[in-house]
Amino acid sequence: MSLFLHLPHACERVRLRRLRVSDFRAFHGYRGDPEVARYQGWAATTEVETEALLRDLARNASGLEPGEWTQIGIADSADDRLIGDLGVGLSPDARTAEFGVSLHPQFQHRGLAREAVAGLIGLLFAHTPVQRVVASSDVRNAPCLRLLEGLGLQHVGTAEATYKGEACTERLYAIERPVPAS
Ligand SMILES: CC(C)(COP(=O)(O)OP(=O)(O)OC[C@H]1O[C@@H](n2cnc3c(N)ncnc32)[C@H](O)[C@@H]1OP(=O)(O)O)[C@@H](O)C(=O)NCCC(=O)NCCS
Repeated sequence: MSLFLHLPHACERVRLRRLRVSDFRAFHGYRGDPEVARYQGWAATTEVETEALLRDLARNASGLEPGEWTQIGIADSADDRLIGDLGVGLSPDARTAEFGVSLHPQFQHRGLAREAVAGLIGLLFAHTPVQRVVASSDVRNAPCLRLLEGLGLQHVGTAEATYKGEACTERLYAIERPVPAS
């Protein structure tokens, strides 16, 4: 699905863009921060694994295939420096997209994740057949809960999960494709 054709996408203070191999230091840095990784499904990777991931993403032409996940960079609009990323997964029937978001700690608490996620949801509804965008958050991850609720995602359920060997409770959120004005 041609999501990457619509990148870069300018928000107000951030830009959504493809990840590059040259983002290695920034990407590997914040993803190696235990506070950033704490409530995430992914585990920290080695330098070799991070570089391989960025090379794979740089080769991917379309960006989002049914049943698969990809990553999109969040860059500072002022200097294009990578400050975070969005993980986006598409269901096998291409009707539901799921996302996760990570921001370098230095750039948190400024509303930048909110801009980036709003931009992503807008892109998905504008350029893909996705009908519903979903996300989940550990109940202890207060900044993430505030982010999702502030963006208008609805709390649609709760699930017990295990992350990194630890039992946790996840809140599930969803936002539906807006009905076009008649
Ligand atoms: C989840 C995460 C992305 C949220 O980032 P964030 O920066 O707190 O989120 P927002 O962009 O919505 O910022 C909101 C904060 O910015 C403040 N803010 C400042 N200027 C603002 C503006 N112009 N607009 C909106 N909020 C603004 C808000 O008051 C709010 O402050 P608070 O965090 O003290 O309540 C971040 O905590 C993170 O990367 N965590 C680690 C990874 C993770 O757990 N991800 C979630 C699992 S997928």
